Amino acid sequence: MVTYSAPGKIFLFGEHAVVYGESAIACAIDLRARVTVQKHSEVLITSELGKGKDRHPYVSKAIEKIGEPIRLDGARVTIDSEIPIGTGLGSSAAITIATLAAMNEEFSAGLGKDEMAEMGYSVEKDVQGAASPTDTYVSTMGGVVLMPDGRRLRNLDCEIVVGNTGKISSTKELVQQVRALKDKHPETTQPIFRSIGNLARKGEVLVEKGDYSAIGELMDINQGLLESLGVGCAELSTLIYAARGAGALGAKLTGAGGGGCMVALVDKTHVKGVASAIESVGGVAIKTKITEIGVRRE
Ligand code: PMV
Repeated sequence: MVTYSAPGKIFLFGEHAVVYGESAIACAIDLRARVTVQKHSEVLITSELGKGKDRHPYVSKAIEKIGEPIRLDGARVTIDSEIPIGTGLGSSAAITIATLAAMNEEFSAGLGKDEMAEMGYSVEKDVQGAASPTDTYVSTMGGVVLMPDGRRLRNLDCEIVVGNTGKISSTKELVQQVRALKDKHPETTQPIFRSIGNLARKGEVLVEKGDYSAIGELMDINQGLLESLGVGCAELSTLIYAARGAGALGAKLTGAGGGGCMVALVDKTHVKGVASAIESVGGVAIKTKITEIGVRRE
């Protein structure tokens, strides 16, 4: 029996545009999914969502993919996650990667980290229809990562406050919605994707310099561009304005949008104030940090 954990993530810059090959910066955060795997005669999956393969499409697909070359009979898989589900914090990727890592060890499948990240990406694509490799890559490697090339950047010496709207949104539907907008208005949306990519490339320089107030300004600009792609919503804006009003350096939605979570970059002295501002307008605040630790054995 073996347990592995993997982190969730936030996007500092670049969601949606990264689907079309633009640059993005994503960061692993200190909220983890833990998966325990034990040899068994059949596949049994249990989590807070209940039991069974249907409730756990990512885990089922991960077991199928890693299990095929080793002719797996079954496994008992138990999931325990601190990452809220369906809110843009990469919970499905973290669970997928922790499952692959635990299966890899329990059944001596011999995969390296890069292969696990790659397999995790193909699990997400199969289950969701469309995905970028961001969530699975960052969850595997940890830290601050420039996508799509996977370059590791300096860790941010700054706090992160996440605000959850409590409104569940579907990444698959939002990615399809943005694709439809892109197909309908290519000449208008193309420069928006390019501008988002430019924010991530400029962000890379600022992260290396540790210029957090400039990073915050660019996050605010990124939010405006995401709004123009139609992935904002009133609930997200309420939390974003509350966080900015309480002194956040920058605030934007993170992940697919349409609900889910926003993220604020905050210096140490403003963490409490930003978290209570988010809560005062009906959000659930999560104070967290960026973690360098990707998937690991527990
Ligand atoms: O909602 P999340 O955390 O899976 O993030 C989605 C980010 C998108 O750029 C919209 C899609 C992707 O796979 O990169």
